[in-house]
Amino acid sequence: MSKVKVKNYNDFCPQQLFLYGTYREDGTPNFGLFCWFSYLHAPELKDEGAGMGVMACIGGEKLTKDLIRKNGVFSANLVTEELLPLADYYGIVGGREHEDKMRFSPTVEKGIVLNVPTIAESPLSMELQVFQEIHLESGSDVFLCKIMGETMREDLTDKDVPFIDRFKSVNQVLSGGEMRYVSMDGRDLGAWGEPMKSLKS
Ligand SMILES: Cc1cc2nc3c(=O)[nH]c(=O)nc-3n(C[C@H](O)[C@H](O)[C@H](O)COP(=O)(O)O)c2cc1C
Repeated sequence: MSKVKVKNYNDFCPQQLFLYGTYREDGTPNFGLFCWFSYLHAPELKDEGAGMGVMACIGGEKLTKDLIRKNGVFSANLVTEELLPLADYYGIVGGREHEDKMRFSPTVEKGIVLNVPTIAESPLSMELQVFQEIHLESGSDVFLCKIMGETMREDLTDKDVPFIDRFKSVNQVLSGGEMRYVSMDGRDLGAWGEPMKSLKS
């Protein structure tokens, strides 16, 4: 099969979705949906457990970015199929523009190490502390972070169960391309803005 020259976005290079959690000034949580997220090594991390940190690219000015800058900390909660309607809503509805954004809420817990809101229904939550912000262009910034704490669904730590079985039990959601959500086993989970329609007000 020959290949053709294309101008691609990131279609066919799917990315996992995370809900970033921050506290507003009044102590209430805010969540936003993000996928431009990956791992990194840096000298600042050499004394940390696995020596590994994360990078989060946030485009545009938005409440999550305001609060990350103000607090210096946030959580990243892995999105599953169960969480998708809520995650989709948090990706479509802006916190700056909608005071009542959090009228739909997961079960919010406090981080084990940092003062960040985490999501009980998410199988994996990271507590992140920013050690550098890189300004790329107007509205586009990358936050380099230390992983200060991490919690995981207990059954996922049971090494007597083969990794692949634990992995499949997570039911992660990918942002697959063409502004659609896909499951890890290749099912279409709808276009951005569709899953949120099942939320009841
Ligand atoms: C599938 C999906 C993925 C997204 N990924 C990102 C991302 O990686 N970076 C970003 O800046 N915004 C991303 N967004 C947009 C934010 O979720 C959106 O701006 C949201 O309003 C942020 O919440 P906030 O306004 O409460 O901060 C994504 C939206 C969707 C639907």
